[in-house]
Amino acid sequence: MKINGHTKITGIFGDPIVHTLSPAMQNAAFKAVGLNAVYVPFHVKADDAGALKAAVEGVRAMQFLGVNITIPHKEKVLRYLDEIDPHAADIGAVNTIVNRNGRLVGYNTDGAGYLLSLRDETGFRIARKKIIIIGAGGAARGILYAMLGMKPSSVVLVNRTIRRATVLAKAFEARFTSTDIRTSALQRGAFIEHLFDADLVVNTTSIGMMGKGDLDIPVEALPPKAIVSDIVYRPLKTGLLKAAEKRRLVTHGGLGMLVRQGAIGFELWTGKKAPVRVMAEAALKALKQK
Ligand code: ATR
Repeated sequence: MKINGHTKITGIFGDPIVHTLSPAMQNAAFKAVGLNAVYVPFHVKADDAGALKAAVEGVRAMQFLGVNITIPHKEKVLRYLDEIDPHAADIGAVNTIVNRNGRLVGYNTDGAGYLLSLRDETGFRIARKKIIIIGAGGAARGILYAMLGMKPSSVVLVNRTIRRATVLAKAFEARFTSTDIRTSALQRGAFIEHLFDADLVVNTTSIGMMGKGDLDIPVEALPPKAIVSDIVYRPLKTGLLKAAEKRRLVTHGGLGMLVRQGAIGFELWTGKKAPVRVMAEAALKALKQK
């Protein structure tokens, strides 16, 4: 990589930031496409009240192409932007900022990235399908929103805190009337009746991540056609996916979502087609090195 007066800057703001795979993935993409640009991780601290605002102003002042925004800033960052894409506004979270000649525009590419990865890796189509989403946090919100646009026949939101699932269902049910949106508690298999004819189960929580225990879903209740998907990618194969494989169900891991949301960001910043395969290989290599 040659940094000179023409080098364009992109990056990611988060806290913590040391584990991010995005720099490896995006820098490999810039190199593959022959762009004089770099992607840098920035530790923008959560406990420093003015840090996020100052960092976002820096994007404009220093003419970055744009940045990614990750935990814990995805919601708070909206107030510092000039324009919010309508999808990101509906979701209430931004993971990608694009600098359009000093005008900062916020997007959310997480849900779209998830759907692209699911389609490419499993061929699954959401339309008229029965979906179970585990979790009702920020990640669930983005994925649910993207899915509802594809008109599944039903979605069951399963969460430890049922109230949070109800609030999420209520936020979208009036807008997306072709999907039956229900809620259920996660505890003690309360949702097992929904598993019998489910087409897709997706874990959007961090359970299953290294050191966070495993998500215990009675996968034996799922029909043979069901796909089990997990947005966790550390480890690549979570306990949930292992249990599903044992039952010979098709599984889908979380790394593809990271790659695809990054690929959409790359295209927004550069106007060029993202080298998705290069990005996937770089992300996998970086994950294995950590
Ligand atoms: P994110 O932006 O990653 O989705 P979040 O908004 O904090 O993060 O949401 C975390 C999700 O994981 C929630 O659905 C949360 O359940 P609660 O709403 O009941 O808190 C879920 N979650 C996290 N840890 C959990 C655990 N140990 N058991 C069950 N659910 C858990």
